[in-house]
Amino acid sequence: MALDSFSTLVDPYERRVRDLRISITDRCNFRCTYCMPEEGLKWLDRSEILSFEEIARLAMIFVERFDFDGIRLTGGEPTVRADLPVLIEKLSGLIVPSTGKPVDLSMTTNGSSLRSSAKDLLRAGLNRLNISIDSLNPRIFEAMTRRDNLEKVLDGIDAAIEVGFKPVKINIVMMRGINDHEIVDFATFGREKGVQPRFIEFMPLDADGAWTFEKVVPADEIIEKINAVYPLEPVVHGPEPAQRFRYKDGAGELGVIPSVTKPFCDNCDRVRITAEGKFMTCLFAINDFDLRKLLRSRASDEEIMSEIRAAVGTKWAGHNIGNVNFKRPPRSMSQIGG
Ligand code: 5AD
Ligand code: SF4
Repeated sequence: MALDSFSTLVDPYERRVRDLRISITDRCNFRCTYCMPEEGLKWLDRSEILSFEEIARLAMIFVERFDFDGIRLTGGEPTVRADLPVLIEKLSGLIVPSTGKPVDLSMTTNGSSLRSSAKDLLRAGLNRLNISIDSLNPRIFEAMTRRDNLEKVLDGIDAAIEVGFKPVKINIVMMRGINDHEIVDFATFGREKGVQPRFIEFMPLDADGAWTFEKVVPADEIIEKINAVYPLEPVVHGPEPAQRFRYKDGAGELGVIPSVTKPFCDNCDRVRITAEGKFMTCLFAINDFDLRKLLRSRASDEEIMSEIRAAVGTKWAGHNIGNVNFKRPPRSMSQIGG
């Protein structure tokens, strides 16, 4: 196929859609309170989740036919999927037609297995890593993830740095009264290790349904607290959800993701595929589109593309968290893919 035979995807609000998140498993070895119930969820059967070949075919369509330039692998926990480097190798070779460059391939992980896997992931062509770590205190870490794994995750972060991932970002879901006293500690940790913290506002995607507005720590408050200790200045950047800041003394960068207090929906360029091959145009979307059914009924690329176009035609303006009209989606984060 000639690489110039691509078209772009634009949604009804004139937003160019070009970033794909693929959940490659619904399973996870952690049970973060903001995501999963203690007992876990009913896992999908092996036959229900997309195979590597199916994922690679969809990724090829998004990158080579719709000019997507970013793919992020998520879960559940993506590293629990066997032979992950094999998938990464398949995806990292995809070339973005308009630039002629390889797709930017990243992954979000809980970091617990990176000591043994980081090198293979980098070698297979993974470009960037986001590692979740919600507390630097072992007891609070355990309370938030329901696993006594802080040491392992810290070691995983070190492994990612040692093998050469750059930048390494750490995701921190901020919850009022639980880890909000650690904001400056995380900034210090980031400065010392050379990793970029990304503080994420708690969103109503927890399987327990315990989310309330009071539990959200506003991004502005996070920036104020850090700025009081380490002066910050904003970084001008493209359409990414994180608001980025750099330390005035040159000691690095951080980001805050104000999903609730300042939704970034106006600039959203993102769509998602769940582990079972459902295409979703928003984390909070109520409708999904069954790409697995098309893949397994031997649909042509053109048929799959027309379903994707139809789905993108339903992408809404924004999610309205905090508004009375807001409806919680029927899936939790681990089922959609962070
Ligand atoms: N609110 C905000 N972020 C969440 N994540 C998972 N559940 C939530 C939620 N309810 C984030 C975690 C993880 C990524 C996969 O999704 O930080 O890094
Ligand atoms: Fe697992 Fe990530 Fe959900 Fe935590 S947030 S339970 S690490 S999928």
